[in-house]
This record gives sequence, C-alpha cells and structure tokens, in this order.
Amino acid sequence: MNKKILALLFSGLLIISAALTGCGGNAKDDKVLKVACSADFAPFEFQEEGNKEYQGFDMDLIRALGKEMGRNVEISNIAFDGLIPALEAGNIDVAISGMTINDERKGKVLFSDPYYESGLTIVVRADEESIKGFKDLEGKKVAAQIGTTGSKEAAKIKDCEVKNFNVISECFMELKAKGVDAVINDKPVNDNYLKKTNGEGVKALSEKLTSENYGMAVRKDNKKLQEELNAALKKLKDNGEYQKIYEKWFGGASK
Ligand code: ARG
Repeated sequence: MNKKILALLFSGLLIISAALTGCGGNAKDDKVLKVACSADFAPFEFQEEGNKEYQGFDMDLIRALGKEMGRNVEISNIAFDGLIPALEAGNIDVAISGMTINDERKGKVLFSDPYYESGLTIVVRADEESIKGFKDLEGKKVAAQIGTTGSKEAAKIKDCEVKNFNVISECFMELKAKGVDAVINDKPVNDNYLKKTNGEGVKALSEKLTSENYGMAVRKDNKKLQEELNAALKKLKDNGEYQKIYEKWFGGASK
C-alpha cells in the first residue's frame, strides 16, 4: 500500500470518528445543564419586568451549584405542573422550583437532598372573620396553584370548591376579587407576597398546615446527576456559600 492510499484511509477514518463522536456541529453539549422552574414563586424563582434574568433563592442556588459542577446553567420557564413531564421527556435535566419532596413525585423522579424547609399556610382577605384555621375552610372556596401540594391539601377539605390556577399571583387576585375565600400556598411565598404588597387587603393565618422539604428533581435514570448535585450542595453548605445565598433572600440564619 502506498503512502497516498494510507493517508486517504487515515483521513477517512478521522471523518468517520468525528461523525461518531458528534463533532459535526449538532453535538450535545454536556457542559450545559438544562434547568427549568416555574418562575412565578418569589422569592424562589421570579422574573422582574424589564429584566430577562430569572431571580430568586433557587436561581442563585442552581447557578452556584452549576459553577461548582463546572456546568453552564441554562434556565427556562415551564408551568409548575409541566416540570416533571419535561424531565421525563428528556427536555430538561433539573427542575428547581420550590418543589416539595413527596412520595407521589418520588415515583416519577429522583430528588436531591433537601435544600429548604417549608410548609403551607392559608391567606385570607384582611377583613375575614370566619376563617381562623384549616377547619374553618369547610364549605368554602379555596384557590391554589395547579399541581402543587397546596392544591392537594385543599382537595382534602370537606365540601370545598377548589379553584386551580396556573400561577400563584392569579390565586391572590382571585382572593381579592372575592372569587375565593382563601389561598393555600407555601409559607415563605405567602410571607413574601404580604411583605411586597404591604399586606394590602389580605392576611396570612399563623397555622402551619404541613411541614415540607424542597428538593431538586432529576430524571429517574439520572442517578449520576443526583449525586453530583448532592455533592455540590454539600460543598456549598460547608464553604458558607449556601448560607450567603440564604441570607440574601431570607436574612437571618438558615437551619
Ligand atoms: N412546594 C409546592 C409543591 O411542591 C409548591 C411549589 C410551586 N412552585 C412554583 N415555582 N410555582 O407543590
């Protein structure tokens, strides 16, 4: 075999292997971590008008985790009840969205270690006198975000009409417009809403209905990513970075 043929064969091999390893331009970039949230949940994930960057505790946390893992974080906004389907379909790698770890969801996705302690509270109109706690919601109308633990909790109430909305701000609007008597939603988000609106027209009840933990969700077959996220989370907790992010959004010490 002469040199020319050898060279031709060699370059042919190079082309084939380049095609196989996907250097042809449409290669999947393993460096990019495709993240999604339902950006309607301040102070965890939200978008301010005129600012295209997603903001919040979850957003800072996932960016810091990505940095730790050497991955570029790309965030998209998906309705809360579409997050798990998007994971299952392989459209995203991670869902971080104030998502409570529970058994039902564990049947579909893998969760990271818990990263935030939360729970549900009730918000009513400021002049509401008859609703003092969960038991008073019997026979009332309650709004909740579709697919959330708040919505599940509302469904347990006897003779209660549950109105499910796509985003939590719609629940508060409905409450103010007297379309419902109460909203059931995560406490830190309710507290943030009351603070931001100076409690105008609404108040939160002190009773905590549940105790919940937030976790990041990944696809069932992606144990590797679950472990990477856990290792990075531990690192950020150990080096004080998690604490910094916590204080930025909530002040005070984290548990
Ligand atoms: N923690 C609740 C749940 O997991 C509500 C989460 C809603 N999150 C959001 N980004 N809207 O069901």
